[in-house]
Amino acid sequence: MNPTRINADFDQRVVLLPPGPEDWLPSPMPGVHRRLLDRVGDEVARATSLVRYAPESRFSFHEHGGGEEILVLDGVFSDEEGDYPAGTYVRNPPGTGHAPSSRTGCTLFVKLWQFAHGDSKPVRIDTRRAGWSPGLVAGLSVMPLHEHDGISTALVRWAPETRFNQHAHPGGEEILVLEGLFRDEHGEYPAGSWLRNPRWSRHTPYTGPEGALIYVKVGHLGAAAG
Ligand SMILES: [Fe+2]
Ligand SMILES: [Fe+2]
Repeated sequence: MNPTRINADFDQRVVLLPPGPEDWLPSPMPGVHRRLLDRVGDEVARATSLVRYAPESRFSFHEHGGGEEILVLDGVFSDEEGDYPAGTYVRNPPGTGHAPSSRTGCTLFVKLWQFAHGDSKPVRIDTRRAGWSPGLVAGLSVMPLHEHDGISTALVRWAPETRFNQHAHPGGEEILVLEGLFRDEHGEYPAGSWLRNPRWSRHTPYTGPEGALIYVKVGHLGAAAG
């Protein structure tokens, strides 16, 4: 039985620290476990999850009715189209489908049913090779991943001891910490942490000696999302 509402009030701030063994729940497919981050619905859900494939596991063919966004965190994820090693960013728009698998095992960050109307472009980016641009303050580098209708997704690399300006998120902000230790005045978030800052929230993020690499999405937590 799957819970159907997890962190489903998008006006609430959510901080999930890196998962422990008890946080990985079995999925309908043997060898595939998930950590549910947010979820509105059953097996067809507006959902954000970490998904872990054991070596030699596979998921049955499925169509992406509402689109699927994936960042491969470790291992190699595969489907009929090819292999996606750690660092690959994938967008499978509504109407696409596949039967994914993993020979090596892999961990994914997955967002389902979160495509805006008219966003029909498939995306494949190898973030280990794509270019970085300077960010708004010294020490920040940005790799844009996707932009549509005011919703932006990027990787942001924070050099050690970088301090960003205080800022507001009119459309909310979601962060997955990929490396290092990310901080703001509310806490410290080691690699594997997931944060959702509601619309109009404010903070002043910074890094210490570790620096950080984060996935960031902004603009998607407006009224329609809740
Ligand atoms: Fe899929
Ligand atoms: Fe922010």
